[in-house]
Formats: sequence, structure tokens, C-alpha cells
Amino acid sequence: MEDSILLEKFQEKIDKGLKIEPKDWMPEAYRKQLIRMMSQHAHSEIVGMLPEGNWITRAPSLRRKAVLLAKVQDEAGHGLYLYSAAETLGIDRTELLDQLFTGKAKYSSIFNYPSLTWADIGAIGWLVDGAAIMNQTMLARGSYGPYSRAMVRICKEESFHNRQGYEIMLTLSNGSPAQKAMAQDALNRWWWPAIMMLGPSDAASPNTEQLMRWKVKLETNDEIRQRFIDRTIPQADFLGLTVPDNDMKFNETTGHYEHGTINWKEFFDVVAGNGPCNKKRLKARVDADKNGAWVRAAAHAYANKKAAAKAA
Ligand code: 3HC
Repeated sequence: MEDSILLEKFQEKIDKGLKIEPKDWMPEAYRKQLIRMMSQHAHSEIVGMLPEGNWITRAPSLRRKAVLLAKVQDEAGHGLYLYSAAETLGIDRTELLDQLFTGKAKYSSIFNYPSLTWADIGAIGWLVDGAAIMNQTMLARGSYGPYSRAMVRICKEESFHNRQGYEIMLTLSNGSPAQKAMAQDALNRWWWPAIMMLGPSDAASPNTEQLMRWKVKLETNDEIRQRFIDRTIPQADFLGLTVPDNDMKFNETTGHYEHGTINWKEFFDVVAGNGPCNKKRLKARVDADKNGAWVRAAAHAYANKKAAAKAA
């Protein structure tokens, strides 16, 4: 059948809200977009373990350590889940990992900032996982079956991540003046990177139009960003903390918060690899892959031995 007819039928399925499954016909551009998004998402989950992993040995109590351990382990699972979802489109994860290790693939800008104090662990859970939930609950309604189903599972765990982060911020904000100052400092450093992580403005987003047409994204970057800001400002107020944006004000007519100018130069600098921690994060991932090669070899050898014994 003509590609133009196939494309028409494909768009009809999308418009009806039907899921596209791995074995369905799809335009090559759709397959490429999904591989791009799912692999970058997977890379982000794994790299995202690094800033938080930095505090597991320094958590202030056994309970906080156990909760942070659980969160970081969840992120590893999210990454593996998303690599598997990307592989349904016929690409091998070794190729995806090679793209990451050689700097060809992107991962989320947000993870290129340092986690300097324990309050950062609270701010990451509250703001970064909070922004991720906004985005991922939207993606969970997306057209590509394996990705949308992965999002449903991941979002359940993200809400635990978000709540534990907010609880850390609440504890600190209700603590000593020094603890409250630590929480405010973390909010000052993570606020703008968190609203930037949801992607460039719609006017500067080359992928959004196509992704919306194919219902991979159901809302634009700016729409998600606005929902995140509208939800988060009252939470900051409840904490008695102030977001570092003097232009932030509530518009009674629209019912939305209006924020100040976003420093998109900083965003694109970080995306281009010039953020505070880009080199450190990538080196950590490359080293972990190298140092873990023997574990993978042992696991493969064991699996092959078991398979050979079964076949004999
Ligand atoms: N960091 C790095 N690159 C980014 C970015 C960010 N925060 N936001 C956008 N970009 C890149 C895009 O990848 C694109 O480059 P490319 O075409 O070379 O891939 C370019 O900037 C233009 O951006 P667009 O808006 O056109 O790109 P998208 O339409 O793909 O939108 C997105 C960007 C909203 C991040 C979208 O890709 C998306 O929703 N991805 C899936 C979710 C995801 O990856 N989240 C990352 C965080 S993971 C996380 O939060 C884990 C949690 O446990 C904390």
C-alpha cells in the first residue's frame, strides 16, 4: 500500500486516540522521535541517580538513608524500563549507551547541577520530580503504547519521590533558622533549572509541533511549565520559602502565576555541555560502565552456562 495511504491511516489511528504498538506501521520520523525521547529519558533517569547518590552515605538519619536508597534504586529501574521501551523500536541499548558515552545523546539539563547540601535532596524530590510528574502524567496518555505504559508505572513511583522531597523541605523549613536557610538556599539554586528542564519555550521548540500532531506530547513545554509553576508556588508559600523570582505574581484574571524572564542562554549552555557538572556526570557514567563490565560479563557467562545446561 502507498506510503501516503499508510500515513493517512496512521494519522486516523492517532486522531482516534488509539495506541501505536511496536509491530504497527509507523512513519520513520515517528520511530526516530520516540527513540530520541525514550533514550534521552532513560539516560536522564540513570544520570539523575548521581546527584542524589552523592548523599546516600551522608543522609542525616537511617530513615532518610533508606528512603533515598529506595528512590535512587527506583530511578535505575526507570532507566532500564525506558531502555527496554526504546528497544521495542528496533534499536539496541548498547547503541543508545554508546550515543550517551560519546556525548552524542542528550540527557536532562537538570542533572548537570551540583547537590551541595542535604536540602538539595529535598529540592530535587520536590521540584525535579514534581516537574517530571507534570510531564510524565501527560506522556502516559501518549500514542506510543510501550512508552505510555512505562509512564503509568513510573509515575506511581515519582509521586513517592516527590512527597519524600517535599517532606524533607517541610522538616527543614520547620527546623532551626540554619535549617530553614539551607532549604531556602536549595530552592534558590534549583528553582530556575527545574522550570527550564521542561524544555525551551514553545517558540524555540522544533519538535513540539510534530509530537503534538502525533499525540506523543499532549501539551506543549510552556503549558506543562505553567501547570508546574501554578502548583508549586502555593507549596513554597506553605513552606514559608520564597522562589527566587521577584517578578513572580498571581494574575487574578487568568488564574495563573506570571514568572520573570527565563535565562535561556544558561539552558542552552547546559544542554550544549557547558553546565556546572556536565563533564563530571558523563565521566561518572563512562567509568561506571567500564568498571561494571566484569559484572555484565559474569552475568552473561552464567546465563549462557545455564542455557547450555538446559539445552543439553
Ligand atoms: N535537557 C536537555 N535537552 C533538552 C531539554 C532538557 N531539559 N529540553 C529540551 N531539550 C532538547 C531536546 O532534546 C531537543 O534536542 P534534540 O532534538 O537534539 O533532542 C531540543 O532541546 C529542543 O527541545 P524540544 O522542546 O523541541 O524537544 P522535545 O519536544 O523533545 O521536548 C522534553 C523536550 C520536554 C524534555 C521532551 O523531550 C520530553 O518530555 N522527554 C521525556 C521526559 C524526559 O526526558 N524527562 C527528563 C527528565 S527525567 C526525570 O525527570 C527523572 C525523574 O526521576 C526526576
